[in-house]
Amino acid sequence: MSDYELVVAGGTVVTASDVFRADVGIVGERIVAVGLDLKGERRVEADGLLVMPGGVDSHCHIEQLKEAGGADEETWISGSTSALAGGTTSVITFSTQFKGGGILKPLAEYRRRASQAMVDYSFHQIISDASDEVILNEIPEAVASGIRSLKVFLTYEDAHISDRDFLRVLAAARHHGLLVTVHCENYEAINWRTAALLAAGHVEPKYHAWSRPPMIEREATHRAIALAELVDTPIQIFHVSCPEVAAEIAQAQARGLKVWGETCPQYFVLSAKDMDRPGFEGAKFMCSPSPRDAQASAGLWDMVRMGTLDVISSDHSGWGYMSPVGKRVHGTNAPFSDIPNGIPGLGSRLPLLFSEGVGKGRIDLCQFVRLTSANPAKLFGLSPRKGRIAPGADADLVLWDPKKQVTITNALMQHTIDYTPYEGMEVTGWPVATIRRGAVAMQDGKVLAQPGSGQFLARAPYDMIKPTGRLPFGFDASLHAPPYSK
Ligand code: URP
Ligand code: ZN
Ligand code: ZN
Repeated sequence: MSDYELVVAGGTVVTASDVFRADVGIVGERIVAVGLDLKGERRVEADGLLVMPGGVDSHCHIEQLKEAGGADEETWISGSTSALAGGTTSVITFSTQFKGGGILKPLAEYRRRASQAMVDYSFHQIISDASDEVILNEIPEAVASGIRSLKVFLTYEDAHISDRDFLRVLAAARHHGLLVTVHCENYEAINWRTAALLAAGHVEPKYHAWSRPPMIEREATHRAIALAELVDTPIQIFHVSCPEVAAEIAQAQARGLKVWGETCPQYFVLSAKDMDRPGFEGAKFMCSPSPRDAQASAGLWDMVRMGTLDVISSDHSGWGYMSPVGKRVHGTNAPFSDIPNGIPGLGSRLPLLFSEGVGKGRIDLCQFVRLTSANPAKLFGLSPRKGRIAPGADADLVLWDPKKQVTITNALMQHTIDYTPYEGMEVTGWPVATIRRGAVAMQDGKVLAQPGSGQFLARAPYDMIKPTGRLPFGFDASLHAPPYSK
C-alpha cells in the first residue's frame, strides 16, 4: 500500500523562500509530504520541471455584470480555462454594486454564476454607493458570508465615490476586518483633461494616455493613503503603473502604515505607444491607469525588487476587440473616452512574468512565487491553504518547463476574448501541467477540470489586515456619533 495517492516526482520545488529537489506527496486534495523518494499510487513525472504553488490571481474581472443587463464576455468556464492553462489555480474577482442598489443581491448573483468555476475563487466587493444600508447592514452580512475585501474607485463616472464616502467605507472596513483595495486616479482631473482633449479634436485611442498622466495617479494614491491613515484601515493600491506612484507607497510603508501595492504585467511590457497603432488597433492596449514608457517599466522592476510592490495580478478584463459588446461597443470612431478600459491577461500573467522577470535576471524564482502566489494568498487571507508547498496546504501546483520557448498567440490563451495584447511576444518558460486540489486540471495545454469543480474560498479574519492602532490624537472618529452616517 502506498503512502500517497499521488506523487509529483523528481521536480525542483520552488517555494516563497527555497528552491530544492523534492517529491510532493498528495492525499485527497492536500499536500501531506515534501521529501525524497516518495511512493504513490499514481505518479506525475516532473523531471527537469519546476514545481511551484499554483498561481493566485488576486485581481481579475470574470463574468462581471453590466448595469444595462448581461455580463462580460469572459465566463467562469472560459476564464477558468485560461487560468488553468496559464498555471493559475485561484482567483479573486469582483462583485459590482450599481449606484442606487445594494451589494447583497449582486453578490448572490456572482456566487450563482461562479458555481461554474473550475478554479477556486473569492470576490472583492466593489462599493460605488456608500448608502447607510450598505455601510451599516450589508457590509457586515457580506463579511459573514466570507468576503474580506472591498474595492473602491476614485475615478470612473459610474463607480467613483467621494472622499467622504471613501472615509465611511474605510471606517466600515476597520470595524469589520476588511482590506480595502483602491483604484487610484483623480476623477475630476481626468474629466477636465478629457474635455480639453476632445475639444482639441484629440479623440484617437492614444489620447487615453494623455488624459491620465502619472501625476493623476500619484495624487489619488497620496490621497488614498492619507485617508486610510486617518481612519487606520489597511489598504492595497491596485495596478500601480509607474515608480512615482510606487514611491508614495514606499513612503507610507516606511512610516509603518499597512499599505500594499500591486502591479500587473502590462506595466512591464506595454507602453502608451501601443495605443498609437493605426486605426482602432490602439484600443486593444487601453487600460487604466495607462501603460507608460520603458523608463517607467524599469523603475517598476526596482520597486518590485525592493518589495514595495509585492503582488502581481493580471487585472484581466473581458472586452473583446471585434465583438460588438467589447472595445467597439460605441463604434470604431468613438472617442477614446467612450472605449471600455481593460485588457485580457489571465493566461499570460505567469509566462510573461517568468520570462521577463526570472528569465532576464530581474527577479529570482522565490520572488516569482512570492509575487504571483504566496503574497496574494497571504494578503487576501487565503493562506495557509493557498500559495504554499507544505504539508497541510491545498495541492495546487504548477509544473513549469523553464526552458520551453513559446510565441504567445491568442489561441494559447484559451480565453473567450478574441485577442491578446501580447500576440507574437516570445517567452521562455511555460506551464506544462496544473494540479488543482490534487487533481490534474491541465496537461500540455489541455484543460481537464470540470465546470463546477472550483470552490468558493470563504475568508475568515486574519492578523495581517488588523489596524495598526495608530490614530491621530488617539481618537477613533469611526467609533463616535455618527460612525457611518452621511
Ligand atoms: O482598465 C482597467 N484596469 N479595467 C478594469 C477595471 C479596473 O479598473 O480595474
Ligand atoms: Zn481598477
Ligand atoms: Zn481591475
